[in-house]
Amino acid sequence: MSARVSSPVLVGRQRERDHLRRVLDRAAGGEMVLVTVGGDPGIGKTRLVQDMAGTAAGLGFRVLTGGCLDVGEGTLPFGPVAEALRPLGTEADEQWRSQVLGGSPALATLFPGLGLVPDAHGATGEGQVIEMVRGILDRLAARQPVLLVIEDAHWADASTRHVLLYLVRNLRAPVCLVVTYRLEELQERYPLRLLLSELHRSSRCERIILDPLTRSELGELLGTILGHPAAGATTSEIMDRAEGNPFYAEELLAARDSATGLPGELRGLLLARVERLSRDARPVLGAVAAGTRLPHDLLAAVTAYDEERLSECLLAAVQHHVLVADADGASYGFRHALVREAVYDDMLPGERPRMHARLATILADRVQGVAAAPSAADLGQLAFHWYRARDWPRALLASVRAGLAAEAAAAPSSAERHYERALELWDDAPEAAAASPLDRGALLRRAAETAHLSGDYARGMALIGEALADVDADAEPLRASSLLEFLGYCRIAGPDSEGAARAYAAAVDAAHVEPVSPELARALTGMSLVQSGQGHYQDAIATAEEGRRAAVQVSAPATQARALTVLGWSLCNLGRVAEGLAHLEHAQLLASAEQDIPTLLWTRGQLAAGLLASGRAAAAIDAAAGVLDLARSLGAEAAYGPYSATPGIEAMILLGEWAAAQQLIGQLLDLEPPGGAAAFPRLASGLLRLWQGEAAAARADLTQALRDSEQSMVPEVVSVAHARLARAAAAEQRFDEARELVWAGLRLCAGSDGAAHLIRLAAAGVHAEAGRAQAAAARHRGKEVASAAATASELISRARSAARAGIGELAVTSAEMATAEADWARLRPGESDEVARWRDAIGRWDALCFPYPAAHARWRLSRALLSRSGSSAEASQELRSALAATDALGANALTRQIRELGARARVDLEPAPGNEPPGARKPATPATPAGLTARERQVLELLAEGLTNRRIATSLFITEKTVSVHVTHILEKLQVTNRSQAGAIARSHGKAPAQGEVNPGR
Ligand SMILES: Nc1ncnc2c1ncn2[C@@H]1O[C@H](COP(=O)(O)OP(=O)(O)OP(=O)(O)O)[C@@H](O)[C@H]1O
Ligand SMILES: [Mg+2]
Repeated sequence: MSARVSSPVLVGRQRERDHLRRVLDRAAGGEMVLVTVGGDPGIGKTRLVQDMAGTAAGLGFRVLTGGCLDVGEGTLPFGPVAEALRPLGTEADEQWRSQVLGGSPALATLFPGLGLVPDAHGATGEGQVIEMVRGILDRLAARQPVLLVIEDAHWADASTRHVLLYLVRNLRAPVCLVVTYRLEELQERYPLRLLLSELHRSSRCERIILDPLTRSELGELLGTILGHPAAGATTSEIMDRAEGNPFYAEELLAARDSATGLPGELRGLLLARVERLSRDARPVLGAVAAGTRLPHDLLAAVTAYDEERLSECLLAAVQHHVLVADADGASYGFRHALVREAVYDDMLPGERPRMHARLATILADRVQGVAAAPSAADLGQLAFHWYRARDWPRALLASVRAGLAAEAAAAPSSAERHYERALELWDDAPEAAAASPLDRGALLRRAAETAHLSGDYARGMALIGEALADVDADAEPLRASSLLEFLGYCRIAGPDSEGAARAYAAAVDAAHVEPVSPELARALTGMSLVQSGQGHYQDAIATAEEGRRAAVQVSAPATQARALTVLGWSLCNLGRVAEGLAHLEHAQLLASAEQDIPTLLWTRGQLAAGLLASGRAAAAIDAAAGVLDLARSLGAEAAYGPYSATPGIEAMILLGEWAAAQQLIGQLLDLEPPGGAAAFPRLASGLLRLWQGEAAAARADLTQALRDSEQSMVPEVVSVAHARLARAAAAEQRFDEARELVWAGLRLCAGSDGAAHLIRLAAAGVHAEAGRAQAAAARHRGKEVASAAATASELISRARSAARAGIGELAVTSAEMATAEADWARLRPGESDEVARWRDAIGRWDALCFPYPAAHARWRLSRALLSRSGSSAEASQELRSALAATDALGANALTRQIRELGARARVDLEPAPGNEPPGARKPATPATPAGLTARERQVLELLAEGLTNRRIATSLFITEKTVSVHVTHILEKLQVTNRSQAGAIARSHGKAPAQGEVNPGR
């Protein structure tokens, strides 16, 4: 077992830290304050108090700490207090020591190490010691505030309890006294109860009870210990078992690689509480440990205790904080899962299966005794207890039944576990296997399907592989085809589209036997799905048509719905949106009539995406609403929810509903979806962050999305991820990276006939190249400007031909194309009309009601107008309107750019004075050379950067002549003779410390 490692940082606890900080401030102000900190063992009392001690030391407190020990009453009188004061006895300064410690005869009791002898009258009385402690603290606190920490008061002996009470009543100095204790000991130890009730009665007392850490805090804790974000099954299991207790989490993490269940130290701690209970209680605890949570009557049946005896045992166990009754008092469970584990592990080897067999027998009688169908939970319990009782035949049959019931109850992951259990027992219980309602092939298939539904795609594929190995394809071609078709489906989600294509091709092959079968219809439809995923929409349409015909022929409406979905989505991608949406709506009707929820979910998602692509974002949000509930009804929220819900989120982002979008993204990611599914909300999050002006955060999301789907680089993901990443890179002026991303995206989407993918990438590319050209021009890098123009030229012509071929009714893509044309015009000043292009783009984004891209285009339009004419009423109006939009959205980076442009072009961006809230106006830029006008300061700044008058003129949208007039004034006002002296003054001014700032060098 590796050693336990603690987190280097304190996780969470902000509220408590703030509270303690206020307490310290009060003490420093001269008050005596008392704080009690209670909580479970290991919950973090000591850690919190250590943190407080650090803060106190920083505030100039003298920190004294002592802990009570579990050593039995009277062994170490005044132990913790003596420990706390001991460092004072070894202070080097003799005079200080004698002044603070004084000359009490009781000193020897507290400081045995000092070589003092008890006074001649014999042992000192308790009262003397206590008074002496008060005196010492008083004198010490007269010099500096004191923090006195007494830990683990549940073990405090009588003398310590007396000192504490005495101090609270009699100290009048700046002392903060902190007392920690274990909450669960309150019941156990009368003296502790008495002490606390006395302490809490004091008006100086503040109480803190530490709650368990939240799941995300515990995740953070594990992450800081591991040095990387905690993820994966092990950590999620630790979070489940530790139930918010950091000590348990640390122990479990340290022991995660060892084979034994609980680390020894932890087990001892956990069992200590149990050992206080009577022997009578043991069977009761054993039963609850085996059953996890048991109703009272079942406990009575299994222990065969009479009512009185059972109640006594339960009452004691509850009072000792070992068991808890649920809210209605009907059943009992362990207060902490780890205690249950420890008790279970502690049972004798033979005792455990006997207990399970008894429970199973009683449960089986009950299940049989009721007329109604048994619940999935009861059947699950039964299967579990038979298995733990090692009764394989009964366990196998019970598992199959439990699996079927769990499936019916929308609990696929639980169903999968039951099926897998039945498969595990198959060979050990042949007679039961022969009697099973599902044969091995059916069991494998159902296990695979339920694994898939719960998002365990890899397991689903492995199970299907096993099922295929059992089938003779020549003898049973349709059965083989059906399995291959499902394998293809699993691989799509995997995601592995090449593998999926192979599986579907084999499925179609196998099903090409006369007559036409439902299997053929499904296989064809599956194949069309892969083609559409790969962006080969024409092919997908042809195959889906074939699949649909077959489905109609054999009356398979669910398959027909799937074929229609592929058909509809592919048509949308080719710009034939109205036609496509009609198919998708038809598919939706069929799927919902068939109650085929997986298909319905998928169709809904595509419908929302199609609506969005055609510019009907609000309708897209409506179409996607409720998909999560639908997915939940299937028990497949994590696996199926994200894909179908994301188009609605994208629509929200585009419409400017950012808070709602953010919340949904968080909700989806909290489901911890499998990678392929998580990619979609991450892509949406990337867009949102990019527009919020957080390019680095956007990059992290988008990169993760690509990683999530790396085995299946389908155009739908690739084009979005690469285009957004390229825009994020451009926003950070990483133009080479942006260019790389665009080309890589285009290569990956090469085979696709969907115009939207290509245009999305090309538009991002042209945008980045325009940015590159602008930055390069400012640094006089002609070659780079030319290279930007050449790349952009190639990209825009590709986009144009894609648009001609198939933009159709894709309104969003049209707006993207218009924006790309405007960006392209930026690269060709004088040759094309940039202003007109931006006006066109604005018109399109406005028509769609997409505020962010519209505001962005307005900002660009204003720039173009201003560099053409220097000042423009249209530009001012557009800038103000853009600013209003970005302010409302919280699009910080764009807001900054708009304000910057406004300042340079001297456009008044503030609302009319009447509308302005008091104090809203930003203060003027501080720290500029005195006597210069605002405009002169702008000129001076640029001049200091080494810009020529011509460059200053273009960037401030004024004539070169005006610049030279400004420069003359600046030189006069600064009383210098040339530009470089002026520049030097400006630079030194920029670096000069602000007024009032302390220069540490002096
Ligand atoms: N908020 C926290 N952040 C990081 N680590 C924590 C936090 N709280 C507790 N820990 C860690 O968990 C372990 C147990 O915490 P701590 O010793 O403070 O518990 P305790 O409540 O004092 O327990 P006991 O009752 O046994 O004294 C320690 O290793 C501690 O560092
Ligand atoms: Mg502690």
